[in-house]
Amino acid sequence: GDEEDWASRPPVVTVMGHVDHGKTKLLDALRHANVVSKEAGGITQHIGAYQIVTELEHNERPITFIDTPGHESFTAMRARGAKVTDIVVLVVAADDGVMPQTVEALNHAQAAEVPIVVAVNKVDKEGANPAKIRQQLTEYGLVAEEYGGDTMFVDVSAITRQGLGDLTTAILLTADASLDLRANTEQDPQGVVIEGKLDKGRGPVATVLVQRGTLRQGDSIVAGDAYGRVRSLLDEHGNKLKEALPARPVQVVGLTSVPRAGDTFLVVEEDRTARQIADRRQARIRNAQNASMRKRISLEDLD
Ligand code: GTP
Ligand code: NA
Ligand code: MG
Repeated sequence: GDEEDWASRPPVVTVMGHVDHGKTKLLDALRHANVVSKEAGGITQHIGAYQIVTELEHNERPITFIDTPGHESFTAMRARGAKVTDIVVLVVAADDGVMPQTVEALNHAQAAEVPIVVAVNKVDKEGANPAKIRQQLTEYGLVAEEYGGDTMFVDVSAITRQGLGDLTTAILLTADASLDLRANTEQDPQGVVIEGKLDKGRGPVATVLVQRGTLRQGDSIVAGDAYGRVRSLLDEHGNKLKEALPARPVQVVGLTSVPRAGDTFLVVEEDRTARQIADRRQARIRNAQNASMRKRISLEDLD
């Protein structure tokens, strides 16, 4: 493509860590929102995906954040070959320390070869021991810069807002040091489904991350084995967008069925083509299911 079709895109950051260590609260603090208070039991059920505009050296620098419930979705996406995230922010509560899910998250990030920034959260709490977190994580190969390693650790509090600017700076410095953040805005639009759900009023809704090209209202789209015409594109506030550029998470309304996390989506010229591709994929899935059922039955016969 032409040189001018390439534009720098925001880094995509997945926030991971042990349950209740403050992933959602931290994102709330960064975006001046309050998602945690609306969650049932304070537990994240749905993936939240937000674009936040930050600043580095007087330049506006948006960052795309993905907040995951547990690691299932990250693992599911990775298992299906979808590479969604550029950086993992590993959240560790300073009063609680490294916990089993901290280690799991860390293993996932390392397996995916994604750079990690550690957010040592809840430093406002009594009993917070940020130095201990650094020491604990050394055992897992994450050595803080101040200890001669190459991992950025940032002490933060989602309550007092301490360290939030340092955290976004660490993310952007990590992105600039290790990633190629250029994307082509004129290629055929493509990306990944990060969540699909059935909405009572709006029908199937997919949260997708555009990875290249520009997704527009009215586009004919295939996502996994779902298809349809993009009736509306909504940002995280529910505002309608005319188009979504690379690294923009957006809700797509207009699909005929619900796609799965990790499904890729693409845009085609005609509705008919979208339906044909989707039909072919559905047939392939049915065949695979039938084959595995046949296999199961013949194995049972052997018993
Ligand atoms: P899951 O999504 O359920 O895994 O939890 P989470 O990691 O998203 O944690 P969440 O943001 O729901 O925060 C858990 C609890 O810790 C909430 O009661 C928050 O108010 C509290 N919390 C989060 N960050 C801080 C912090 O920096 N300081 C203090 N004192 N409390 C915090
Ligand atoms: Na929680
Ligand atoms: Mg949460």
